[in-house]
Amino acid sequence: MVEKLEQNKVEKLEQNKKVIFSGIQPSGELTLGNYLGALKNWVKLQHEYDCYFCVVDLHAITVKQEPKDLRRRTLEVMAIYIAAGIDPEKSTIFIQSHVAEHTELAWLLNCYSYVGELNRMTQFKDKSSKYGSSVSAGLLNYPVLMAADILLYQTDLVPVGIDQKQHLELTRDLAERFNNAYSPTFKIPEPYIPEKGAKIMSLQEPEKKMSKSSDNPNSFILIMDPPEVIRKKISRAVTDSLGIVKYSDNQPGVKNLMIILNTLTGESIEAIEKKYEGQGYAKFKEDVAEAIVNELKPIQDKVKNLTTDKAYLESIYKEGAKRASYIANKTLRKVQKKIGFIPVSK
Ligand code: TRP
Repeated sequence: MVEKLEQNKVEKLEQNKKVIFSGIQPSGELTLGNYLGALKNWVKLQHEYDCYFCVVDLHAITVKQEPKDLRRRTLEVMAIYIAAGIDPEKSTIFIQSHVAEHTELAWLLNCYSYVGELNRMTQFKDKSSKYGSSVSAGLLNYPVLMAADILLYQTDLVPVGIDQKQHLELTRDLAERFNNAYSPTFKIPEPYIPEKGAKIMSLQEPEKKMSKSSDNPNSFILIMDPPEVIRKKISRAVTDSLGIVKYSDNQPGVKNLMIILNTLTGESIEAIEKKYEGQGYAKFKEDVAEAIVNELKPIQDKVKNLTTDKAYLESIYKEGAKRASYIANKTLRKVQKKIGFIPVSK
């Protein structure tokens, strides 16, 4: 087994592939924003890079989760990864809690993190203002766990949305701090923020990011929304009274729909402006809705098949956890040794 894993790793190194790590939390249903901003890009990246795509269930429990929903969503997120086109032969798909090294390294890194810098994270400030005095220590330490995720695999590049950039900077700070305190141990990762589709905005408040945690379901499209729901949500999407399909910051609603259409069909922004000239928004919105349905329907069908095939999903996450643990354990042992822990041979 170890030989096979080692061989796999050596092959990837020989091909000189850089390492990519990213993850999505199973804390809610995934949206079109997750799909266009993350998944669709991951699918392309897997040909060029040695990719680790994780379902970050340990992050999800920083806020309250219903056990049966967490279980269902964890498998569904995995199924969505596969249905969207991530190939488990090429990429390592795994569930974060299956690789104990994540929790272990997170503890170690916590001891090199300052409460002050964690307190300054904007995501923590936003969330803690929402949860008030019952905010968990896990939420404060969330970015340290994220740093552990990334650093365990000697990651080169981390595809994330702009909202996670600050967490990535903290990851780099922690890696440098540790490397300086001992000796080079961690690779310093770079953010990888795709220019297109990096941020799909809310359909109701297009100044805000499309978010599954919004109270208004009309503001987001879920990857698993049935076609009629998608059509309804797009027809209700907020636009403006100008009636011109134009890519402009003064028309954030229209701009967002144009980005969605452009990312899905590849039609250029100029071509889209031309196509709907003098036509108002009705036909434009219909076409946006159809483009989304065409893209998501086949994925939904695959997800439904996959989630009924528990044995297949299990075979994927088992193999993924084996591959991930092998690498993660190497890094963790190095870290333990440098800190001064007594090694125990296995
Ligand atoms: N914090 C990320 C988010 O909410 C999810 C995440 C956890 C992640 N660990 C990661 C992303 C490591 C990239 C790399 O989007």
